[in-house]
Amino acid sequence: MPHLFEPLRLRDARLRNRVAMSPMCTYSAEDGRADDWHLVHLGARATGGVGLVVVEATAVEARGRISPSDLGVWRDDQVDGLRRVTDFVRSQGAASAVQLAHAGRKASTHRPWAPRQGAVADEDGGWPVVGPTSEPFSPRLRAPTALDEDGIARVVTAFADAAARADAAGFDAVEIHAAHGYLIHQFLSPLVNTRDDGYGGGFEGRSRLLREVVRAVRAALPEAKPLLLRISASDWVEGGWSAEDSVRLAGELAGLGVDLVDCSSGGAVAGVKVPVAPGYQVPFAERVRREAGVASGAVGRITTAAQADAIVREGKADLVLLGKALLDDPQWAIHAARELRAAGAGEVAPPWPTQYGWVFR
Ligand SMILES: Cc1cc2nc3c(=O)[nH]c(=O)nc-3n(C[C@H](O)[C@H](O)[C@H](O)COP(=O)(O)O)c2cc1C
Repeated sequence: MPHLFEPLRLRDARLRNRVAMSPMCTYSAEDGRADDWHLVHLGARATGGVGLVVVEATAVEARGRISPSDLGVWRDDQVDGLRRVTDFVRSQGAASAVQLAHAGRKASTHRPWAPRQGAVADEDGGWPVVGPTSEPFSPRLRAPTALDEDGIARVVTAFADAAARADAAGFDAVEIHAAHGYLIHQFLSPLVNTRDDGYGGGFEGRSRLLREVVRAVRAALPEAKPLLLRISASDWVEGGWSAEDSVRLAGELAGLGVDLVDCSSGGAVAGVKVPVAPGYQVPFAERVRREAGVASGAVGRITTAAQADAIVREGKADLVLLGKALLDDPQWAIHAARELRAAGAGEVAPPWPTQYGWVFR
């Protein structure tokens, strides 16, 4: 089995190591465009040695933004700011991916640090939202309009057009956001999707939107570029989306060209008790990898070098995604490599940028 600092190949993308920056919304874009903030924030993790930088949830339609300050890729003029990010990330030896997202019924909300929380009202720049049904996520959020077949087709096209723009922006890979109770997960989860047409009902109907999105995005990307998928591998509710569903989904979607399944969990409905603990979602990545035979990513409360390295060495996942640990320490990967080397894990060269590496030789 490889270790954390062995390269990972996905189609033609080569990741220098298996540490990835997990997508994390920073709610800091003006009109969806990436600017200096995104360049420095994401660039710092590239100079900090990660193998892959996954850009935060980036809306494929304006109405699919979680907040008015989300990144977006629904217009051509949003490509240039993203290209600055991909150029810089590549110059530092890291690969880049963008997470394409649609918030569905969780759209049009205030960002987390706003004085008011919940739905953004029309007069404050909010907008009508859509979902699989007209049921709101909570009384504090907007009641969505249920998408009809034309509306669903528009969403699928928006994902494909966004993928083409992501390719033009120079991303090495694209990740479809099908987790955390956003639009695609709203369709997947039986707790939310109570439709009785071809996009609801059993597993096949509920996963149809995602299959259509995967096909359309795959067709919009060059063969050489990998397609990643983030799922909520469990709703953590009896009768909700389950790990078994995830294994089945991963196998089917690998056949449609998904190269890696990034296994998160939760978010479909409010008030669920999630057993958060170190590495608590790793078993999902392990099951997807072993039972579906698909490359997987592990995420969630992974904080130490030894923990991350063991996940890869023990064959539980191909890639380890870090969120808060990388916000706390942009140079986490460099520090992890030093630590693993000191612990006798072999010749692990800390991925310093050239400008600093010679200082610490
Ligand atoms: C500030 C913040 C923003 C996040 N935004 C996203 C996002 O845009 N897309 C996503 O899939 N997950 C998002 N997440 C979840 C993280 O990607 C990650 O799965 C989660 O934080 C668990 O990993 P950790 O324990 O290493 O932080 C976010 C998490 C944080 C802390």
